[in-house]
Parts: sequence; C-alpha cells; structure tokens
Amino acid sequence: MANLLVTGGAGFIGTNFVYYWLDRRADDRVVALDALTYAGNRASLVAAEEQDNFRFVKGDIRDEAAMAQLLREEKIDTIVNFAAESHVDRSIVGPDAFIETNVIGTHNLLKAAKTVWLDGDDAPATHRFHHISTDEVYGALGATDPAFREDTPYAPNSPYAASKAASDHLVRAYHHTYGLQVSTSNCSNNYGPFHFPEKLIPLMIVNALTGKPLPIYGDGSNIRDWLYVEDHCRGIELVLEKGVIGETYNIGGRNEWRNIEIVREICLLIDKAFATDPGLAKRFPDAPAAAGETTSSLITMVKDRPGHDWRYAVDTTRITDELGFAPAESFESGLKKTIAWMFENETWWRAVMDGSYRAWIDSQYVAR
Ligand code: NAD
Ligand code: DAU
Repeated sequence: MANLLVTGGAGFIGTNFVYYWLDRRADDRVVALDALTYAGNRASLVAAEEQDNFRFVKGDIRDEAAMAQLLREEKIDTIVNFAAESHVDRSIVGPDAFIETNVIGTHNLLKAAKTVWLDGDDAPATHRFHHISTDEVYGALGATDPAFREDTPYAPNSPYAASKAASDHLVRAYHHTYGLQVSTSNCSNNYGPFHFPEKLIPLMIVNALTGKPLPIYGDGSNIRDWLYVEDHCRGIELVLEKGVIGETYNIGGRNEWRNIEIVREICLLIDKAFATDPGLAKRFPDAPAAAGETTSSLITMVKDRPGHDWRYAVDTTRITDELGFAPAESFESGLKKTIAWMFENETWWRAVMDGSYRAWIDSQYVAR
C-alpha cells in the first residue's frame, strides 16, 4: 500500500492520473494537492471525492512548511509532481509565474521532502519523488534530426521550457547531493479528457462547436508527437513500479503530426459526428457542421508564436525496452474519444471557458 501525493491533481494530466490510480489501486491512498489556479478545476475531481481513499487539499507547492506538514500528516511516501504553469503562450507574455511555480515551487517541494523523508525521525520506510517533465526541455528538431533521447542535451527555448529544465536539474541535484529517491519522466504532447481549452486540441474542438475561428500559428507546419493522456499515466506507473532511482525516462507516442493536419482531422471527425447524430446540430447550433457546412471553413492562419519550436519527437526506446511501455491508444481512436468526451462534457468546458478566460484566449490570437 502506498500513500500518494499528486500535486497539480486538479489540472489536466493530474486529474487523469488520480482516476487512473484510484481505478487500479484500491488499497492506496491518494491525496491531490492543487493551488486551483486558472488551470485547476476541483469539479474535475468530483467522482474521486466520493471515494474514502481520496482527499483533495487546496495548497501551493511553494509553501514549504505546508508541504512538509502534509507529508507528515498523510504519511506520504510517494510524490508525483505535476504542479506547474504549463502553457507556453502564457510563459511568453508572463514568465514570472513559471519561475515561481515551476522552479521555486518544485524546489520548495524538494526541500519539504528532504526534511521529512531524509532529515526527520518519522520518515516512511521507502520514499519516491517522481517529477513530471516535458520533451520541450530538449529544444526543437529539424526535419531529419533524430528524436529526443534521455541523453539529448537540454536546450530549452521558451520561458516555460527553461523553467521546466531548471526544475529537472534541481530534482537531479537532490538525488546526487542528498540521496533523495527521485525519478523524472519527460513526456511529449498529451491530449484527452479534462484538457484545458487553451491548448491546441481542446481549443479547436470547443471553437468548432461554438463557431469560432480555429487559429493556426504561422504556416501550420510545426510538428508535435501526440500521446493519449491515459498512456502517459501508464508510463508514469511503469516508472514508479520499475524505474531506476535517479534515472529519467522519455515518454511519447511515436506519433508525429503537423498542426494543420491535426486540425483538419478534428474538423473531419466533427463533420462526420454531426452527419451521423442529428442531435448534435440542436445542441451546438453555432457549429458550421450544424448547417451542413465544413468545420474546416473556420480555419484561420494567424501570426506565429514567438520562438515557436518547429518539431518535437521523442525516442521511447528506454521506457519500451527496460519497462515494457507501449501506448494502447491510436491517434484516431484517441481523438474520437476526446471529441466524444467534449460532446458529453459541455458543462465542464463551458464553465472553464466562461468570463475572463474566454476573453484572454480570444485576445491572444485576434491580436496576432
Ligand atoms: P495544467 O496546467 O492543466 O495543470 C497544472 C495544475 O497545477 C493546475 O491544476 C494548477 O492549478 C496547478 N498548479 C499551478 N501552480 C501550482 C502551485 N504553485 N501549487 C500547486 N498547484 C499548482 O497542466 P498539465 O497539462 O496537466 O501538465 C501537468 C504537468 O505535466 C506539468 O508539469 C507539465 O509541465 C507536464 N507536461 C504536460 C504535457 C502536456 O501535454 N500537457 C506534456 C508533458 C509534460
Ligand atoms: O511537448 C509537451 C508540451 O506540450 C507540454 O510540456 C506543455 O505543457 C503543453 O502545453 C504542450 O506544449 P505545446 O506548446 O506544444 O502545446 P500547445 O497545445 O500550446 O500547442 C501545440 C501546437 O499547436 C504548437 O505548435 C502551437 C500550435 N497552436 C497552439 C494553439 C493553442 C496553434 O497553432 N494554435 C493554437 O491556438
């Protein structure tokens, strides 16, 4: 039995991880901690809160004393650190929050873990600090470059990526200097349920359903390597179960797509769904598909993201060969599931998109 602390547990991947773990580990206790920034949504955890072995705590990873107290109170032996500012565009217009949470927050969480797990008298028999990182720390690839490996030198290009790189280095340092039992995974682009609609895939679905432009940065040729979020959770589980302490593991889908191709694919899937289910036109009357028009008519080319990394691709040889990782979801099935989830969870995304957030996202691409 393990006592997990899932930081950032009310965000996109954290929420999926909480459900993934509760579904499979009935004997474990899961404490989700989240500061509930604009990206955190406690409503996403409503089904988890019905379970006795789950607790939600509103808190900030920057608060070292509170983190140490929580580790003691809940006898936490495993931290999975998702908490972060995660959106590249926001890091370009406001990098400070990224340094605060991703660098200082991770460092304060490491300090709390060291105090309780290494320096105190009431440490659990074993402990693990697993840090969730990103492929963006490796920089950008050209068309013929080999995919990122664990030994690819770090070359972060955005304030977001630089802040994640800094946190990765701190995690590594706490292992080498103090002996904290750490591991890190660097994952490619996730998609799936509970994905905040400021990121490419959920934003395109929501805008398609509400008849708003589908903004493509630059010429749309940029490439990302997409992984269904449940497959990411499976990868983290494998690292927690069988990963070597002090090691890093890349996780990815071996699934490279140009942005413009993904958006066209989403448009086609939405057109098909409307053609087969007449109820959708009634529920989403502003969607072009409701009037029998193609969703792709909404595609709008906009000014590029500053410093836009052109291509990411992840070499997953280590996690595949050493831990037996393989994604279960194909991109087609994963996208269909994601679109179906958005159809079924209109209340969730409408609540998220209301008010100042909607205004912020609109102003971002209209201004380009
Ligand atoms: P997200 O923005 O949806 O969720 C982040 C969560 O962290 C939010 O719930 C937010 O409220 C919380 N948070 C922010 N600051 C906090 C603080 N100071 N203290 C406590 N909680 C705080 O992000 P996500 O997409 O779920 O990403 C989760 C993690 O995975 C991040 O570390 C991100 O860098 C990493 N990652 C994401 C992807 C992806 O494609 N989304 C890919 C690879 C790695
Ligand atoms: O690679 C992993 C990273 O993936 C994670 O570390 C980040 O937390 C996560 O946000 C994601 O970063 P990206 O910048 O790749 O994701 P985003 O969804 O913002 O953009 C994906 C691509 O789509 C990117 O090339 C920019 C482009 N884009 C994005 C938006 C929001 C558009 O063309 N239009 C848009 O409106």
